[in-house]
Amino acid sequence: MEFAHRSTKSETMDDGPVGRAVLRDLARVNSLTSAFVPIRRFVRRAGAEGTLLDVACGYGDLLRSLSRRFPRLALSGIDLHVAAARAASPPAIELLEGDVFLLDRNFDLIVSSQFAHHLDDAGIIRFLGWLEAHAERGWFICDLHRHPVPHRLIGLIAAALRLDPVIAHDGAISVERGFVRGDWERYATVAGIPGIAIRWWLFRWGVARLK
Ligand SMILES: C[S@@+](CC[C@H](N)C(=O)[O-])C[C@H]1O[C@@H](n2cnc3c(N)ncnc32)[C@H](O)[C@@H]1O
Repeated sequence: MEFAHRSTKSETMDDGPVGRAVLRDLARVNSLTSAFVPIRRFVRRAGAEGTLLDVACGYGDLLRSLSRRFPRLALSGIDLHVAAARAASPPAIELLEGDVFLLDRNFDLIVSSQFAHHLDDAGIIRFLGWLEAHAERGWFICDLHRHPVPHRLIGLIAAALRLDPVIAHDGAISVERGFVRGDWERYATVAGIPGIAIRWWLFRWGVARLK
């Protein structure tokens, strides 16, 4: 496996809605790997109040984690498929079904976890522009580090916890489609957005912008 460039392979998840069991297993991996720690830190730093949108909210586990800790946030999520998130979330969390690029509504804060790697480079530049236009106070992207360690680890975790085979398959491709620091530096330059902070956290990149 070669990690010099982002892979163009596609994930099972990109072919349509995946079952609830897959999303539940992905939530277990998120929890085990402390995936939401940098996002919660960002939210705290940004004041933890007002409206917040989670882009590509999947099973809604990030939104539920935020709702337990930050009661002054009005939480919304958007995803192409929200049935599983809706079934698992309290009614106070607003769930919008559709393509984020078609959503024209502003929020104080916008976050997204493990969505950017589903986009090609041009899509990421477009997403940065969308975030900049729709986040009043700031936005945060958390996504995977393209590196052999998480690539190997995802298969080991999936086998040890007997997770759905889609997790090992899509997880490895997700890492291959992931990022190195230079990718984010280049995207920020091309998008022409100032003041972007790029920080590493346990084989993930946190890309933050506070206005
Ligand atoms: C790997 S999952 C990440 C789910 C969740 N954010 C997490 O961290 O576990 C990627 C999600 O992106 C969603 N998605 C892909 N393209 C999208 C788009 N254009 N607009 C909204 N959601 C999208 C998929 O439906 C899927 O739920």
